Amino acid sequence: MFDLSNKRALVTGALGLLGREHVGALTEGGASIAILDVDEGPASDFAHAIHRRFGVDAVGVGADVTDEKSLKDARARIEARIGPIDVLVNNAALNPKVEGNTNVVGNIRVAGNTDDASATAFERYPIEAWQRALDVNVTGMFLCCRVFGAGMAEKGRGSIINIASTYGMVGPNQSLYRRPDGSQKMFKSPDYPTTKGAVLAFTRYLAAYWGHRGVRVNALSPGGVENGQEDWFVTKYSERTPLSRMAAPSDYRGAVVFLASDEASYMTGANLVVDGGWTAW
Ligand SMILES: NC(=O)c1ccc[n+]([C@@H]2O[C@H](COP(=O)([O-])OP(=O)(O)OC[C@H]3O[C@@H](n4cnc5c(N)ncnc54)[C@H](O)[C@@H]3O)[C@@H](O)[C@H]2O)c1
Repeated sequence: MFDLSNKRALVTGALGLLGREHVGALTEGGASIAILDVDEGPASDFAHAIHRRFGVDAVGVGADVTDEKSLKDARARIEARIGPIDVLVNNAALNPKVEGNTNVVGNIRVAGNTDDASATAFERYPIEAWQRALDVNVTGMFLCCRVFGAGMAEKGRGSIINIASTYGMVGPNQSLYRRPDGSQKMFKSPDYPTTKGAVLAFTRYLAAYWGHRGVRVNALSPGGVENGQEDWFVTKYSERTPLSRMAAPSDYRGAVVFLASDEASYMTGANLVVDGGWTAW
């Protein structure tokens, strides 16, 4: 079961925290792999490392998921190297992180200094940042599905996995981002839950649209991943999670392999929630 050795998979945003895990899981399962991220150099380096480690065919390409021409160029180069894609993981997204630079969404500056959360408040949130998140998180997914999914529909088989989030199902409780001294470190942005809700709706749309063509389209909703956040944040997050901890980056590997594999062949239009129970209460 869960053999991917006859599959060719593409992961977008593959150089990020979870993208690297998705790549590792799919290649360990035996899939040939295409690694897509903004910068070609590191994508190519990662592909070489994966090839050396797992012996699978691997290619790294630089492309922008919001640019259809750039995706079509990437498709031509990927197909020339490993053949047409059977599994697409739409993972690229702008995700303002509490452990990262909370002042910048994409390339758009939203705040003056890292200790000032007021500029990330809804009342002042820059429309450019909102727009860019919609472009990357929603339009990017739409374009990747069209550019890489059309070939799947022609062949009559394929699996698309759209990475959503708990915040596609429940709203952010902004008290999570408040330090023990009562000051607000950041506000989770209004675009993030909005775009993740759209990922879930679009997943159902495309599952219904392409079901009869043999293309399965599912969402995977991860919870928050521990990644060097300050202790107070990890503690707060863990207290709000039934399993009493944040996720490890590796916690989503099994879910990705399952959705990619033929073991999920009667599953489409679904949302696989792997969140330690965050949305259960
Ligand atoms: N980290 C978490 O706690 C968490 C929780 C729930 C859901 N998610 C979701 O998982 C996915 C991955 O999250 P992550 O934490 O690994 O994010 P990340 O920020 O570490 O990685 C995102 C990657 O996407 C790439 N990217 C951004 N814009 C792009 C574009 N226009 N074209 C191509 N690539 C682009 C970035 O270069 C980066 O490598 C996202 O969809 C995110 O919303 C993450």
